[in-house]
This record gives sequence, structure tokens and C-alpha cells, in this order.
Amino acid sequence: MCGIVGSIGISAPQSYLLKGLHRLEYRGYDSAGIALLNGNGELKLAKTAGKVSDLEPLIDQEFDASIGIGHTRWATHGSATTENAHPHQSASGRFVIVHNGVIDNYLELADTYLKGVTFRSATDTEVIVQLVELFAQTSDTVEDALLKVLNLLDGSYALALIDITEPDKLYAAKQKSPMLIGVAEDGFIVCSDALAGVQRTNEFIEIHDGELVALTSNDVTISDLEGNTVERESFKVDLTDDTLDKGIYPFYMLKEIEEQPIALRRISEVYSHEEAISNELLEAVKEADRIYIVACGTSYNSGFVSKSWFERIAQKPAEIHIASEFAYDMPLLSQKPFFIFISQSGETADSRHALLRVNQLGYQSLTITNVKNSTLSREATFTLLLHVGPEVAVASTKAYTAQLAVLGYLIHTLAGSVDTFSHELRQVEVAVERLIAQQEDFETIAEDDLLDTPNAFYIGRGLDHLVSMENALKLKEISYIQTEAFPAGELKHGTIALIEEGTPVIALMTQPNVAAQTRSNLEEVKARGAKAITIVSGDLKTASDTIILDEVPVYLRPFLTVVVGQLLAYYTALHKGYNVDQPRNLAKSVTVE
Ligand code: M6R
Repeated sequence: MCGIVGSIGISAPQSYLLKGLHRLEYRGYDSAGIALLNGNGELKLAKTAGKVSDLEPLIDQEFDASIGIGHTRWATHGSATTENAHPHQSASGRFVIVHNGVIDNYLELADTYLKGVTFRSATDTEVIVQLVELFAQTSDTVEDALLKVLNLLDGSYALALIDITEPDKLYAAKQKSPMLIGVAEDGFIVCSDALAGVQRTNEFIEIHDGELVALTSNDVTISDLEGNTVERESFKVDLTDDTLDKGIYPFYMLKEIEEQPIALRRISEVYSHEEAISNELLEAVKEADRIYIVACGTSYNSGFVSKSWFERIAQKPAEIHIASEFAYDMPLLSQKPFFIFISQSGETADSRHALLRVNQLGYQSLTITNVKNSTLSREATFTLLLHVGPEVAVASTKAYTAQLAVLGYLIHTLAGSVDTFSHELRQVEVAVERLIAQQEDFETIAEDDLLDTPNAFYIGRGLDHLVSMENALKLKEISYIQTEAFPAGELKHGTIALIEEGTPVIALMTQPNVAAQTRSNLEEVKARGAKAITIVSGDLKTASDTIILDEVPVYLRPFLTVVVGQLLAYYTALHKGYNVDQPRNLAKSVTVE
């Protein structure tokens, strides 16, 4: 949540910072700011409520800056105003900071150390910069002052800080929020996500929790919170700047929906090889008596389908938990549990907290993520990567299908049926391609049946219900239509009271063993005025159905029903005139609990 960029020594820092903030905007987009410092210690600070495009005209492109820090914000403490936008300055203006995360004890710190300081914002961040100024007065170096402050902070932070009296130094630090150093040709950059940095370099150095970094234009010093120097090798990321562009698409979400067939092919290329999944991982899963899947949002929804596959295909009992609940209220565990964390970003704070608890208990775990070297990947015993390229739209799409495909490979490898799965997935890939080619039909349904409704329901049974949960999340998060998913048989136990004349009820019917029952439930809501939209498999169709899907193997039908849900949500939000990629109140990667 929120995005940080910073640089020292590089040419044209304004262009790096602005482009980097645009790249990070998917992580938070309610206000933005940049501070630039030149070699004489002159500071230019610009910030505004609104998007990075609102900030752009406020930046002095001619200013000969040697250092810069920038921020795009998703408000936690204090509303989305210019005063609360980062960067924040200390009382004298000497120190300037940008910060991601939440300082849990900021009120206590303000009360203990900063009585008499007049705060200019309502943020927790300002407490950090005011403390640095306070401690700098009695410390030999800024590093010493920063170490003292960092040792007082509870909570999470990634931060970049400049001291206008040292125009050749940039400081950065991290605790539970992502932050990287980029090694550029002419200096260094810092960024909270490699996506912001690949415009200048693909070589990065990780900063670990509890580390402080001091950068000059030709040197990096990393130290721990006791002040001991830490050595760290750099690593390369295989991302290029071009892969991050929207290209011909109006929104990343549509691009990412359309990338799904190719993503499935890539996953098959990687995971159909025998050695793609290590024996150590397979043994760990085999030895477990129960799988605990832990995730949030869309990743949680994909976990439901894979739980069902674990039990039916690999005969392995599995249960699924919401990470934010699991971290604080762990269920009674089996004798030999194994944990699977599903997270597109690999940075979700709730999932990370749950993983830390699992690590404390000494259990093995697997992270399934799209981001190599992400926090959840580093902290789990094993990682399986999605290999689908960056997902930028806040609404997750290709990550869901990729998570299913990777988990499918894991489950079929355990069951000894990888070749069958590869063959079946190829059929899915073709069927998804056909759905994407048919998207104008979904656009028409969205325009005719969904645009003007305040609420809607998805219903289904079995796997259809599990996908309904994801489809409802997709529709509500980008179109703001209140949408709920229900097991079709459960509606009549209460929720049917909400059905009125014209309420859209979207029924998924792809599972032969329960389709007839769902159809009966649909009749019940139609009799009460609901507008029915049906998504059915070819083998189960009737003359009145709305969307007919290709007949792929029954257990793989979630791949198709979810793509229909994604496209219905996309076109509904588009025709309502919303910013599809950046829905209100949300951010892509939720790095605060
Ligand atoms: O990066 P993660 O998969 O851990 O993210 C989990 C959720 O925050 C995420 O799926 C969220 O629900 C999406 N906005 C859904 O489209």
C-alpha cells in the first residue's frame, strides 16, 4: 500500500520519480508528492491530493536536483488531503520523509517525546520525521539519530529520508513493508516495488527488516538496528519496462484478462516438467495429514477451488482460512499440518502475519506468488511462482487462473497425473480464448442487465458456488454494485427476502451433479421478479440460457466461469464510467493489517 520512489545521483530524477510514481499508483492513488534537493541544499517540495497526473504540473523540471523522494498514498491516518500527502518535513524543514506502513505507537511517541511540536498533518509518518529532528540534536550523525528512532517504532515502515544539510546522502529503512535499492548506471534508486525501478535498472539489492541504508551517488552502506554493517549481493529481475505498458488496451484489467490463455500456456511449459516441483516440497506435502490454505481476497477465493481439488484428486484433507483471522485465531491444528499461502503480490500484510505465526510454530510452508523474492516467498520454506508477468489492475484476474493452474500442477504431481492435467489445461486454454473472442456479448449483457442495478447476486452449487464468490468480489469492487454470492440452495433460507422486481441473479451451472438443483433455485427467484442471467456448460444448456461455455472437464470449469465474471465486471464498470484499474478506496497490494 502506498508507493515510494527515491534516487541519488541519477540523471533526470524528475522523470524517474514521476514515471516510478505512475508505475506504483496501483498501490495507492489518493494523493502524491515529490521532494527534490540540489547540491546546495535547496529543496523543492510539491504535493497534492489527487493522482500523480495532478502532481505532474507542480514539479519543476528545470531544477538541477541530485536527490529526490516521491510518494503515492493510500490514506491510513488522516484523510486524503494535500497536508496529509507525503513527503512530510520536520519542524525546521531540515528532514524530509516519505513512508509506507503504519506506526502503531505514534500517539504514544508523540506524547512522550514531541510535546510542544506543532504537527502539520494528521499522519503517523510525521512523528517519525519530527523524532529524527529531535534526536539529531543530540546525536553525532544522522545515522545515529535514525537508529534511535527506528528502535522506538512499533508497526511497519518502508521509508526514505533526506537531510537538506547533507545533499549527498539519501537514507532508507524497512520493517515489514517492501523496499529495494536499485543499482543504476549513474547512481542509486530506492523503490517499494521493482516495477518502479526497471525503467533505470534491473539490478536490485534487497533491504531486510530492521535494516538502515545510507546511499551516496556511488556507495551503499547497509546496517542493522545495532549499527553493524551488513554485506548483501545484488540480484537481477527479469522484467523490462515495456512489459509494464498497457499497449493498445484502455485499462490494464482488460489486458490482464486477455493474457490468461498465454499465461496458462506458460505455466504448463514450466510445471509440466518432472523436476519443476522439488522432491522436498512434494515430500513435505505427502507427509502432511492436512493442508491449511491461508490467503486474502481473490487468492482466498482461488484457495477454495484448490481445497476441493486437494481432497478429490490427491485425497488430501484441506481447509482454507482468511489470513487476517488465522493470524489471531488459529484453528486447532492437525498432527502434521502443512501450510500453503497464496498471494499474488507476496506482500499482503495479513498473510505475512499468519506466515510469521506458522514459522514461530516451526511448521513448513509453501508460498504461491507472482513475485519472485517477495516477502512471503522469502519467509516460506518453499515457493512456486505464477510466471504470469506483473498484474497491475487492482482487480485481480490472471493471478486467480494462474493460482488454480499452479495448484493444479502441484496436486496432479502428487497424484501422478501431470500429463492428463497438461492435456486438459490445453482444452481450457482454447475455451478461454474463445470466451475472450466473444467478449462483445458480455459487454451487451453488462449494459442491458447490470448497469442500473444497485445490487446483484451470483448463485451456484459446489465449484460453481466457489467461483461465484470470486465473481461477486470482482463485480462489487470495480462497479460498486453490492453483489453477494450464495450457495444456490441457501437463498431461500433468508436472503431471498432481498429479491425484488428486476434484481439480477447470475446463476452458474456447470456441475452436472447439482445443475438441476440450481435451476430450481433460479426458478424460485424468478418467480419473485429476479432477472436471471445463466452461465452454463454446453452439456447442461437449455434454450433459454444466456451464456454457453465449452465442455471442458467438469472440475476445470471454474477457469471458464471466472473469466465470464471478470468480463461482466469489467464492462459494467467501464460503462458506468469508472476508472476500472483504480477503484475507489482500494490499493493493489495491502501491506497494512
Ligand atoms: O496479493 P494478494 O494475492 O495477497 O492480495 C490479496 C487481496 O488483497 C487481493 O486479491 C484483492 O482482493 C484484489 N483486489 C481482488 O481483486
